[in-house]
Amino acid sequence: MDGGIDDALALILALRSPEIEVAGITAVSGNVPVEQAAINALRVVELLERPDVWVAEGLARPLARDPIRAFNFHGRDGLGDSNLPQPKLRPTAKTALNAMSETLTSAKKHEVTIICTGPLTNLASLLIESPHVKSRIEEIVVMGGAYGITKYGVGNETPVAEFNIYSDPEAAKIVFEAEIRLKTVGLDVTTIPQLELVKRDYARIKKSRGKASMFATRILETNIRAHGRFTLHDPMAVAAKIRPSLYKFSDCRVTVETKGEYTTGMTVADRRDLKEDQLQGRPVMMCSDVDPGFKRFFLDRLN
Ligand code: RIB
Ligand code: CA
Repeated sequence: MDGGIDDALALILALRSPEIEVAGITAVSGNVPVEQAAINALRVVELLERPDVWVAEGLARPLARDPIRAFNFHGRDGLGDSNLPQPKLRPTAKTALNAMSETLTSAKKHEVTIICTGPLTNLASLLIESPHVKSRIEEIVVMGGAYGITKYGVGNETPVAEFNIYSDPEAAKIVFEAEIRLKTVGLDVTTIPQLELVKRDYARIKKSRGKASMFATRILETNIRAHGRFTLHDPMAVAAKIRPSLYKFSDCRVTVETKGEYTTGMTVADRRDLKEDQLQGRPVMMCSDVDPGFKRFFLDRLN
């Protein structure tokens, strides 16, 4: 996770969902610097009293480019400039790659799902340094990309590229080519208007006096006041694992552009009507639709 508002909401959802067990979190450079992303993850782990879940600080910059930030949207602190107290919990002393490798090595075959809600720098580095852990990964779920499968499937960082992929396209290329089952939850579905948080949803969160709701109210306030709505990119990726019945995925072959002057970071989906062996790219399960029940599910879990 890269320390944004929706990353924090996604982590609350994951930690409050008995259907999945969260082993650990790696912070990655993205919306905010990696140190801040780790602090924001620790704030959620501490809020929900889960010191058993490790938080590791990952890579401080993309594999081959300068970092880009999203301060304008998530605030300097990543959480809507909500001036929350510093967490008492500290990151694990292990590096993110060691923490992931240890968790995976002690897991059974195909037991672990890795859900990525930020740039893929940490995961790509793990796959390069410790390729043997691949056999322990059941699947990778990525909030990222824009595939043109709905009219909302256009870029948000450039006309064709989504922030997490655009931030580190070299890392994304490594993950997409890793031959591990890959599900993508892209802007095609996360920005469907009916699935976004609107003012009446915010009012419901604000009314509820739970600690998670109060935390969510604080970090969402600036955005809701400025835009009247908030896009639940990262919670939608996590919910794909918890409520798969709400999701429709279609197989597609995808290539990540890393060299285009205008198209770097684009997830190029080959949807031509050709034979399988004539298509360009690696097989991806691309989310093509999400049931409106997602928002109700998310709001219920937040309360
Ligand atoms: O494009 C949206 C994604 O970029 C989300 O994960 C958001 O948190 C930012 O990381
Ligand atoms: Ca994110």
